[in-house]
Amino acid sequence: MSYYQWDASLDIGVEAMNEEHKVLIEHMNAVYDQNAAQVSKEELGSSIQALFDYVIKHFADEEAYMASIDFAGLETHRQLHDNLLTELKRHIEDFANSDANQVSEQFIMFLKLWLTTHIRGIDMKYGNLNH
Ligand SMILES: [Fe+2]
Repeated sequence: MSYYQWDASLDIGVEAMNEEHKVLIEHMNAVYDQNAAQVSKEELGSSIQALFDYVIKHFADEEAYMASIDFAGLETHRQLHDNLLTELKRHIEDFANSDANQVSEQFIMFLKLWLTTHIRGIDMKYGNLNH
């Protein structure tokens, strides 16, 4: 049973971005599941790296999409992405610098908040233009 689920409340009305959000959630679930299963630090670390790499790709694609529709909120949205990346990097560093083979509870909550607040609240803004 996965922790993070894509459902209709995360549908922003842009199919390509919905598909990327689903892949993003798969990466989040891989981190969550491996963390819960207490796999080795190395194994968990590579799933976290894969999540990070996908986030970079997704933000670039999302910003390119917003630019393609001349979305007025692009700069604000880009700033929010930068903030999310900074926070994600901080969680990843905390994990790398600790002796534990598990991430913190805060890391898990951060991923959950990301889905509920960023996708549902913020990404919805550029998505709704198409409705
Ligand atoms: Fe976004």
